Amino acid sequence: MKNMKLKCTIFSRCLILLLLWAISEVKCSIQEQSDIKRTDFPNGFLFGAATSAYQIEGAFLEDGKGLSNWDAYCRITGSIADGRNGDVADDHYHRYMEDIEIMHSLGLTAYRLSISWSRILPRGRLGEVNQVAVMFYNKIIDNLLLRGIEPFVTIYHFEHPQEFEERFGGWLSPLMQDEYVHFAKTCFENFGDRVKYWITINEPNLFSELAYERASYPPARCSPPFGNCASGNSDVEPLISAHNMLLGHAKAAKLYREQFKSKVDGLLGITVSAFMYVPLTDSEDDKEAAERALAFNSAWTLDPVVFGDYPPEMKRYHGSELPTFSSEERDLLRDSIDFIGINHYGSLYAKDCIHSSCICNDSSCTPGGDRAIRGFVYQTGVRNGVFIGDPTGMVRFFVVPRGMEEMVHYIKERYHNKPMLVTENGYSSPPSEYDDYRHDVKRIRFHQSYLAYLAQAIRKGADVRGYFIWSLMDNFEWSSGFRTKFGIYHIDSLTLNRIPKLSARWYRDFLTNSSHFDADLLNTISYRNKVKSE
Ligand code: BGC
Repeated sequence: MKNMKLKCTIFSRCLILLLLWAISEVKCSIQEQSDIKRTDFPNGFLFGAATSAYQIEGAFLEDGKGLSNWDAYCRITGSIADGRNGDVADDHYHRYMEDIEIMHSLGLTAYRLSISWSRILPRGRLGEVNQVAVMFYNKIIDNLLLRGIEPFVTIYHFEHPQEFEERFGGWLSPLMQDEYVHFAKTCFENFGDRVKYWITINEPNLFSELAYERASYPPARCSPPFGNCASGNSDVEPLISAHNMLLGHAKAAKLYREQFKSKVDGLLGITVSAFMYVPLTDSEDDKEAAERALAFNSAWTLDPVVFGDYPPEMKRYHGSELPTFSSEERDLLRDSIDFIGINHYGSLYAKDCIHSSCICNDSSCTPGGDRAIRGFVYQTGVRNGVFIGDPTGMVRFFVVPRGMEEMVHYIKERYHNKPMLVTENGYSSPPSEYDDYRHDVKRIRFHQSYLAYLAQAIRKGADVRGYFIWSLMDNFEWSSGFRTKFGIYHIDSLTLNRIPKLSARWYRDFLTNSSHFDADLLNTISYRNKVKSE
């Protein structure tokens, strides 16, 4: 009898514990959304927004700027979805003061911008430094600092003088490394007394793939089965261009550390496009495929700059086409960064195609952003007809907030918790949301839930130091033109006026902790009307 009583007590205690656990789980999942607060992040955590020069500046041939690869590419019929270009873009070149005031009013503590290579050095090493361009970036940097906003400067964000393509084939040539180091040095010399955070290159992995495998970025080279370009080799050229970028990065990093770092105790990093991959099925083959996909994506750039060489997974599967580093180059590359920049937009399923077909034509992985990549992995956003997360305005970008924590965890484990910053994360509205663009509730929910998972990763020990929303304003979204919209500010296409979306108000309230942003208001018609009438 006594035994029976004891068993009952233990059972009821267990039941209570189980109940408490279930309640806390429910609470957690609510907190994932609207409850996220700035105070959930460590003191000094940087909150910013990001842009890049070609996407916002305009003024494409003003004050001595030369023709860039994108200026040339946009002029090829059919290259940009809406037929437009960055000639005017958001006219940031003339409106930068207004944009800095906007950042200040939001309460940003950091702003990630990039320097236009063709504006600063229109002819590369063959010409002079364009002093008007130096003045332009000086004014931006000084005004940011005056308002307590830390400038994060990306040296190369997809844009360079077109002349390099014509003279020596751009990133396919090692000459580009020397051009890049000259450009980086010019930036360090002119801005290094005030800029503390440098990102050498934005997404070498994504740029190499889109420019040399899939031909959707200039110089748009490819070969079958990726496309029928006039010239290119989709198997080899992405590897060569990434190789040249990595060596350019390593040489610039050495120069920075030797000659400039001590001026402001600066930090230098690189940014990668970091998709999270999860196995399509529970099979061991798909689990390995997901690991391989990660290695062929973010680790392709990060292993060399942390460990000094390409990921073992890539070496195993690539033949002689994977370039090799000499031992001096490995020494130069190893530990050549102070932080890792993570551009994270979503997650995809990975399916093995070593042991099964790379063409996925059964119902398990159609349709939506499917493709095979190097590494014998098939990527897809769909499993058994169900999307991995809500679709967005970009084909391969699905909303999978837990992917943020998983991605950070992967990088933390692989690179021994090197300092990380989320240098881009953003939501592109699908066309169905264009009419009601100011009431961008889904963008708010997106950032809230991704931030909640980021906070969780930090609580579990990840050394993440900042978060940048992509993007401050709608802008020229490369080959999609202006049709794809990531901004928390809308740009009126006629007046170029900056119009805050609801997400801008949410970010301001989140950052200033002024009033708790009332999530319920997001759904009320009256609030919608209030925003419209303001
Ligand atoms: C790039 C940005 C781009 C964003 C959204 C990133 O790959 O760095 O320039 O606009 O993704 O596609």
